[in-house]
Amino acid sequence: MENLVILKKFKELFGTEPVSIVRSPGRINLIGEHIDYNDGFVLPASINKEIILAISPNNIDDTCNLFANDFNSSFSFQLSNFEKTEQGWPNYIMGVVDELKKAGYQPKAFNCVFGGNIPTGAGLSSSAAVECGVAFALNEIFKFGLSRLDIVQISKKAENHFVGVNCGIMDQFASTFGKANHVIKLDCKTLEYQYFPFQIDGYDVVLCDTGVKHSLGDSEYNTRRKECDTAIALLKSKFDTIKSYRDVTPEHIISISSELPDKTIDRANFVIGEIKRVGDATDLLSKNDIIGFGQLMFQTHDGLSKLYEVSCTELDFLKDLAVESGLVTGSRMMGGGFGGCTINLIKKENTETFIDKAKSAYKVKFNKELKTYVVAIKDGTSLV
Ligand code: GLA
Repeated sequence: MENLVILKKFKELFGTEPVSIVRSPGRINLIGEHIDYNDGFVLPASINKEIILAISPNNIDDTCNLFANDFNSSFSFQLSNFEKTEQGWPNYIMGVVDELKKAGYQPKAFNCVFGGNIPTGAGLSSSAAVECGVAFALNEIFKFGLSRLDIVQISKKAENHFVGVNCGIMDQFASTFGKANHVIKLDCKTLEYQYFPFQIDGYDVVLCDTGVKHSLGDSEYNTRRKECDTAIALLKSKFDTIKSYRDVTPEHIISISSELPDKTIDRANFVIGEIKRVGDATDLLSKNDIIGFGQLMFQTHDGLSKLYEVSCTELDFLKDLAVESGLVTGSRMMGGGFGGCTINLIKKENTETFIDKAKSAYKVKFNKELKTYVVAIKDGTSLV
């Protein structure tokens, strides 16, 4: 359906059929939050919310013409000379072009229309989906010969350098490498990965979207990253055995606690706790112990809220509601934080009751409609 809308718009704007149509999904992450940039393991999957891009080379001149259908907004830039814009969304596309050029590829000018059903600001990585979709599409039409991993790395660098968020690799990896009905266990240190069948019969994965995106998100994200880097640099300088957060014990952190601000120590404690939880969680998942897995999700939320301080009132409210309702097996905030969604594992027979309860409680508390999504796990970025 969305394909047809995008196709129609492309023809209307450019008078021809596009050369390629690409789909690129958003992601969930079951557990392993804020540890992709701390050498941990994460457990994401690509979902049935995606953007569609229609694209063709612009064989006329040096101009790239873009149209974001969801925002009804257009933008053009010269391939030979462009810079970051206040308009926001074009930066994800120009960032990819910029990184391709830096890596020695020579993209030519192109026309692109895109849009889809990934809610923006919901923590489902709509930006990574755009970046990976654009890198994938340019690779198709200009035959750069990029591997999937190249696409991931170029897209991540686009976000780091051009957009200016110092994100880790999880979102771009999940969007590009996703596999239907599987979660990816990604080792963010070595980039080795393994697909885990995600067939938890009788359960739904339900996202509750707070509908808020607190503006301090990006800057706080970069601050968290710096705090983590400060603590690990000190630990490495003191202990030869420590090469990354994976080698750090609670005792190591106690030994440096007087040398760093309390908050930095809290961040480091969260990171080592979360790295351990992901190990435990994958063991539980392979034994099909969903109850145990869910308990770890609750713990992750508490760590993100109290030690890492990336939650917000709305997210805490939804997670508390999930616990108090007795209807939810596991619940936590997901993604970067300061808004976006909670991810919930719910027995199918409880899904509807919980959604109704959550919607009315959210309305009473915040006077806002709560959006919810029951998600399915789909393949990563591909040609349509
Ligand atoms: C954002 C970033 C990811 C990751 C998550 C938190 O989604 O883009 O790299 O750090 O936050 O786990």
